[in-house]
Amino acid sequence: MDKIRIRGGKRLQGQIPISGAKNAALPLLAACLLTDETLILRNLPHLADIATMTHLLAQHGTELSMAGEHPGGGHMGHVLKLSAAHIASTEAPYDIVRKMRASVLVLGPLLARCGQARVSLPGGCAIGTRPVDMHIRGLEALGAVIELDDGYIVAHAPDGLQGGVVVFPRVSVGATENLLMAATLAKGEVVLENAAREPEVADLANCLNQMGAKIEGVGSDTLRIQGVARLSGTDYTVLPDRIEAATYAIAAAITGGDVELLGAQPDTMEAVIAALQQANVVVDRTDSGIRVCADGAASLTGIDVTTAPYPGFPTDLQAQMMTLMTVASGAAMITETIFENRFQHVPELMRMGADITVKGATAMVRGDSDRLHGAPVMATDLRASVSLVLAGLAAEGETTINRVYHLDRGYERLEEKLLGCGADIARIVE
Ligand code: EPZ
Repeated sequence: MDKIRIRGGKRLQGQIPISGAKNAALPLLAACLLTDETLILRNLPHLADIATMTHLLAQHGTELSMAGEHPGGGHMGHVLKLSAAHIASTEAPYDIVRKMRASVLVLGPLLARCGQARVSLPGGCAIGTRPVDMHIRGLEALGAVIELDDGYIVAHAPDGLQGGVVVFPRVSVGATENLLMAATLAKGEVVLENAAREPEVADLANCLNQMGAKIEGVGSDTLRIQGVARLSGTDYTVLPDRIEAATYAIAAAITGGDVELLGAQPDTMEAVIAALQQANVVVDRTDSGIRVCADGAASLTGIDVTTAPYPGFPTDLQAQMMTLMTVASGAAMITETIFENRFQHVPELMRMGADITVKGATAMVRGDSDRLHGAPVMATDLRASVSLVLAGLAAEGETTINRVYHLDRGYERLEEKLLGCGADIARIVE
């Protein structure tokens, strides 16, 4: 298994191009099942999860062709043409779904387009049990008949999905996206209340509207959808990844660096930018994105952070922010409200010298600028893995991160992007 070796202490300086958003690309890929015409998606990141989703779509009968590199060349992601004119299978098998839980996003589109779907339950993962009960209840509210059989979600809507009102008991990005896609072809009006407002949900809604859907309230917590008979193809560019951008902003801050994040959209990063500025990091808008500067760990201030659904502080940045707090001066209280087990990076950071005390959903971090020293550490989930990379960039000495396949799921060309800014980082292929 590959490892990543980092020798810490280098200030990052230069520019990092931000890739297309993984968590927008995954539902957008699933949306191809809603039409028999061709969907073209641009600026797709080269990531393991994207490959898994395209593999799943191919076994449903989708024809895929990788169009040439983006005409502008440079770091734009790849272009995929997807045509689901004939759906050969409405089953999403366990061996694919267990690798990536976002596979459950084919449930809504298959049910809406074909009137049936057999999708493996995704099972839990490192950060929590991750049930899909709200996906199921929501589709039942639109007339679907759903049973659980042998670990599969078996769904039928022979007369198509009907209009109705779905009130999510808690904010769910995936349930909002599944229901939104299903609702576009329902017979009548669907209202989704307490819907997720993440920019990736808005990106999906904007693409669906370009395909002929009738969705109102995009970006709000109430989505109103008038079902239509069919959707057409379209040509859509995936929005930049705000989580990747914020991760590299924290890399600049923790090394006392000066980095411009090309393509970053500050309007989708307000909570994170506010937190970084409160911690004494300088973040400015530029014509090409945002620029992040810090004078060094000694100038950073510990701040309290609580994760929340968008526009609150993203749970996908909790581990990275905690790492920054381990070298900031003063105490920082980090509270995780979205997932029940998302502190797996804590023991690994403590092996590097961090002073962290966990009580339930809260971690108390006591920071110090020369707190971290290099060590062999292990990655457990995507964002915990990258928090160890950030710690390695700041630590005294050498850090080796094992199980980097977690990283490859969500960070495109990570070593290349950091090398380009002066980091001493290398991938050890074993
Ligand atoms: C999406 O996961 C993201 N993944 C996650 O990013 C992200 O952490 C999460 O949203 C929250 O922002 C993708 O978009 C592919 P949820 P999702 O449904 O949709 C509970 C990453 O690192 N819940 O918003 O699965 C659930 O257990 C990944 O890129 C139910 O109880 O998250 C969680 O506690 C990690 N029942 C909370 O809601 C349900 O039916 C929020 O989950 C659905 C969810």
